[in-house]
Amino acid sequence: MTHSSQPSPLEARKSSPLNGRVRVPGDKSISHRALILGALAVGETRITGLLEGEDVLNTAQAMRMLGAKVERQAGGQGAGEAVWSVRGVGVGGFAVPSGALDFGNSGTGCRLVMGAVAGCPITATFDGDASLRSRPMRRIVDPLALMGARVTGQSDGGRLPLTLAGARDPLPIEYRSPVASAQIKSAVLLAGLSAPGVTTVIEPEHSRDHTELMLTHFGADVVSVADGAHGRKISLTGQPELHGAAVTVPADPSSAAFPIVAALIVPGSDITLDDVMTNPLRTGLFTTLREMGASIEESHVRRDAGEPMARLRVRASKLRGVEVPPERAPSMIDEYLVLAVAAAFAEGTTVMRGLKELRVKESDRLEATAAMLRVNGVKVEIAGDDLIVEGRGHVPGGGLVATHMDHRIAMSALVMGCASDVPVKVDDTAFIATSFPDFIPMMQRLGAEFA
Ligand code: S3P
Repeated sequence: MTHSSQPSPLEARKSSPLNGRVRVPGDKSISHRALILGALAVGETRITGLLEGEDVLNTAQAMRMLGAKVERQAGGQGAGEAVWSVRGVGVGGFAVPSGALDFGNSGTGCRLVMGAVAGCPITATFDGDASLRSRPMRRIVDPLALMGARVTGQSDGGRLPLTLAGARDPLPIEYRSPVASAQIKSAVLLAGLSAPGVTTVIEPEHSRDHTELMLTHFGADVVSVADGAHGRKISLTGQPELHGAAVTVPADPSSAAFPIVAALIVPGSDITLDDVMTNPLRTGLFTTLREMGASIEESHVRRDAGEPMARLRVRASKLRGVEVPPERAPSMIDEYLVLAVAAAFAEGTTVMRGLKELRVKESDRLEATAAMLRVNGVKVEIAGDDLIVEGRGHVPGGGLVATHMDHRIAMSALVMGCASDVPVKVDDTAFIATSFPDFIPMMQRLGAEFA
């Protein structure tokens, strides 16, 4: 799915207090994994609350092209109630796709499916939009090559488009990942499903563990133990029978981050968000915002398929600058843009350390965050891999923010405009549909003034 149409600019103005109760869409990471594991399982997987954003719909289409039967079955009213049914082909059973697999804007969909394909005796071509074509793929292709997969054709494997020939007899490996990346870990584990014996990934810091939790939910044997102070060693026993399972997708904390920060910075706001996933490997933003003085209360805590979730009540709060340690980065890697917005409205300096990975996301988010703030009158500095934001309790605004095909830049800038002195404009909101298709109407229902 690509965006060839005209850009859709939008302006956010100082809003009256945000109020109301909403459920943001299903978690993107879990949605991709439910489709992929459903496609590799035997029998039917029924998914409730799947995120129906473009990134996930591209993964659904890739699973169809690889031989799984994937259907949306209308449930009650509203997208969140639809049930997605996946009838899988079994571990190692993917079919040769009839054309290139197009992952649009999604690094997660593309990289996880590369891992799954690497364990099957088939060849598939992977492609994406201009943003995804600019992102590094060696970090995935290199460990998969150790397992027996090969990049064929013209590409050197560094960038899309590339063609991957899966391994006929995949080898189990022990892989020490140079970066704490759930995408790398997941790709290796998914390839390891077809390998005889134990595949192990060692990561320098513990990244989100949705793949491990969901593999266990589908019947695989996964062991995860600490490795050093912050690291993790994850081992999967290969060639399991994966059985189709029921999956309920909790609300995405990375999407919840936008209304949460908006409610914190718009004076007088009081909002409630239902079923937000609270897996500790995803909640670094909540920890940081609380350290800054945010009022975020949790209730109705429950667990589904190993994933915890809770209702969050968020009230406008006076925020102060803090220092965010580098080891927290994996648990809030997608949230620094919107944290930087909160930091600009805080009193005092916020220092965010160890943000190297932000440079290889949907855009160079380190540069893009600094540019978004600067153009709206906020003092900001990049020092090596650190981002330093001078909070002055208010943001002048008035800037036009370039979104660089990055959904989270667009949403962060619009959140900033909800409380800035004068409106903030974004050049294109089209990419918001990759992860949070209802963002604009949902924020407007809460009281945001977008026009
Ligand atoms: C994701 C992992 C993260 C994150 C991405 C989703 C996942 O990337 O930025 O949006 O679902 O595994 P890295 O693991 O490469 O940091």
